[in-house]
Amino acid sequence: MRLADDEKAMLDGAQGEAVAAAMDLLVRYGEVLGAERLVDTDNVCGANLFGSRHSLVCGSPTPDAAFSEHSLDAPTVLTIPPVKAQSYQLIGPMDTKHWQVQGLPQAEHDEIVASERYNAEHGIHLLNTCTPYQVGNVPLKGEHCAWMESSAVVYVNSVLGARTNVEGRESTGAAMLTGKIPYWGLHLEENRRGTHLVEVTTPVEANLDWGLLGYWIGEQVPEEAIPVVDGIAATPDLVRLKHFGAAAASSGGVEMYHVPGITAEARTVEEALAGRAPVQRLRYGPAERREAHAHLNATARDDAVDLVMIGCPHATLGQIRDVVRLLEGRRVHADTELWVFTPRALRHVAEQNGYARALEEAGALLMSDTCPAIGQFLPKGTRVIATDSAKQVHYLPAIMNVQGWFGTLTECVDAAVTGTWRGERP
Ligand code: F3S
Repeated sequence: MRLADDEKAMLDGAQGEAVAAAMDLLVRYGEVLGAERLVDTDNVCGANLFGSRHSLVCGSPTPDAAFSEHSLDAPTVLTIPPVKAQSYQLIGPMDTKHWQVQGLPQAEHDEIVASERYNAEHGIHLLNTCTPYQVGNVPLKGEHCAWMESSAVVYVNSVLGARTNVEGRESTGAAMLTGKIPYWGLHLEENRRGTHLVEVTTPVEANLDWGLLGYWIGEQVPEEAIPVVDGIAATPDLVRLKHFGAAAASSGGVEMYHVPGITAEARTVEEALAGRAPVQRLRYGPAERREAHAHLNATARDDAVDLVMIGCPHATLGQIRDVVRLLEGRRVHADTELWVFTPRALRHVAEQNGYARALEEAGALLMSDTCPAIGQFLPKGTRVIATDSAKQVHYLPAIMNVQGWFGTLTECVDAAVTGTWRGERP
């Protein structure tokens, strides 16, 4: 790999041992990937660097030891300096307010709080969400980023036209300290052209429609594919594209797509394909929609619902307000929980707006910073969940051994109020 002078100096230790270890990691990583050089980045979104349930069980004695071992792959404990790049903490394992609802022991709570302090002291912004683009980190078209979290990566690549691969704990940790990331994959213009053309012949309008379409596409195309979605009549919004990308990135490995005329880098199908023929043409009609719906409800058998989960990816204020309105004059069933997840910053606004109180008065709970799939927690005894998120219903049955219903927000809130799934069935 060709290194610039400032990169060589970092590698040689001019900025200390931790930065040298970070640069060494990036060089090794980049060489494996075939990257010819690094690129500057001032926008890094990484994992909670120490206080994840995973790193806790690894038993690192101090935050510096955890960072050295898990983020820098360093053989010794290094003193970690403040981060160089603008750096953001993604979703983590704990809601700092409702951690007891999660069933976390006090000791684990204390360690996670300490780790957040450590991250803040090192200059990492505590956004604590899988949707940084909803709360102030909105990269520009062409901006080189280093982000983890597949649903966020597919959103910023496609909708905003920023450039990132799906990075890992180690590469984002090293990027935070150096402001560099290997220049490969979706950082390169030539790798951002559409490859597979999806002709949509059935209406795709509501959030549920977008989740189904994304899930179906993710199942059909190979990992490196960039689908081009043609035939969309109604312009989607942030929430719909958030559901779409998250679904496509969970049933498959989609990291970028084009919806010509809507997403950032293609006005037309021809532009999305860069004038080339698609590798494959796919058709998405009513039968394909039914197929995706059946797959997403494949684990559901029992009608009694224990948990309704809303907010995957983390909910916007508009989505929270919609839940509040659907609950007006109603109460969550005594045997069911309704949990709504949002970024930490939006919970604060939701509290100011009275949404959090309205939810609590109806027997629901507004949570932030985490989600059941990442934090691996559910109400005790949960056997059946319902959600409006294709991503959450893809993961929770697999991770937590529960049944999952997938439906509209209205169907989900009805399930929370009645304790029973009465929504559409495959
Ligand atoms: Fe976010 Fe958790 Fe869903 S990380 S995208 S709420 S699975």
